[in-house]
Amino acid sequence: MEINKVGVIGCGLMGAGIAQVCAQSGFTTVVREVEQAALERGMGRIDAILSKDVKKGKLSEDDRAAALSRLQPTTDLSDLRDCDIIIEAIVENIDAKREVFSTLDGICPESTVFASNTSSLTIMEMAATTKRPDRFAGLHFFNPVPVMKLVEIVRAITTSDATVATLKEFTLALGKTPIETRDSTGFIVNRLLVPYLLDAVRVLESGIATREDIDLGMQLGCGHPMGPLTLLDFVGIDTTYYIANIMFEEFREPRFAPPPLLRRMVLAGHLGRKSGKGFYDYE
Ligand code: CAA
Ligand code: NAD
Repeated sequence: MEINKVGVIGCGLMGAGIAQVCAQSGFTTVVREVEQAALERGMGRIDAILSKDVKKGKLSEDDRAAALSRLQPTTDLSDLRDCDIIIEAIVENIDAKREVFSTLDGICPESTVFASNTSSLTIMEMAATTKRPDRFAGLHFFNPVPVMKLVEIVRAITTSDATVATLKEFTLALGKTPIETRDSTGFIVNRLLVPYLLDAVRVLESGIATREDIDLGMQLGCGHPMGPLTLLDFVGIDTTYYIANIMFEEFREPRFAPPPLLRRMVLAGHLGRKSGKGFYDYE
């Protein structure tokens, strides 16, 4: 199946990155947010990153302008009606995602492929709200999307081979490397990464070491580009908290349980970089 027009739902940390990469790869991209202010914030982030790339000499002014011209921001879900593929990147909440997909199912033609960028939710639980469970899959990008090369293609038990083939081709057209995984909570990367990040919070909570030394330990001792607490701020404390709850609910193993400090940080609005404060200050 040929993909020309892409729809992205959500223009937060991930949606903005996904929309940017799609537009830069030549796809007309409609990006939808719930309200105008959030849409402007997301579009502003894309513009800032493209402008920075122009300043660094990584991107020409013409290519920046062309990418921006391919982006169609909207708050109206029905503007996604003629997209060939829709990638959902809204908050990590099953009810919110199910509502979006069941509404879209009534708006889009049968041929449109639906994909969720969920980190931890079950793809089948979203696919089941639509009449196209064969044209439904997970398409899991990594943060920051313009930089990270990987995309996990998640095959629900109903996903057709043709849908997987289309998604592979699309992922390659975005300049990313696809890997395939079954619809098991956390897929490949988060199944391994999330317990590690939660353990770093437990080490901090137990007073074994400072946040700086925990981060330096993993950066200099293991060659990670970021220490785990810096990475948690980067991913978002709220998003990590939702992911941990979903994974714990599924596996019932203590290593997936969110440490108490995470919940308190979410309650305090300390959501990481995006709110200006997390384990570190970004004001
Ligand atoms: N958007 C776009 N580009 C960005 C960016 C962003 N948010 N942040 C950094 N970059 C670019 C910079 O512009 C820079 O580009 P050039 O080399 O072309 O100049 C490049 O990335 C490197 O950036 P910096 O030199 O500023 O900093 P760095 O060398 O520390 O790299 C990093 C930044 C790429 C983010 C690196 O620290 C890194 O790889 N961190 C780990 C990220 C990671 O693990 N991501 C996965 C999170 S888990 C996930 O996504 C799954 C989930 O479901 C939760
Ligand atoms: P975020 O909080 O930065 O952005 C979510 C955005 O979705 C917000 O701007 C919100 O206004 C918008 N939104 C909520 N409901 C909407 C709706 N019905 N229609 C349109 N927009 C809506 O979150 P994020 O970090 O971008 O995460 C989004 C998704 O991507 C989640 O499922 C998350 O698990 C997944 N994910 C996150 C990361 C990460 O590192 N943060 C990495 C991979 C996958």
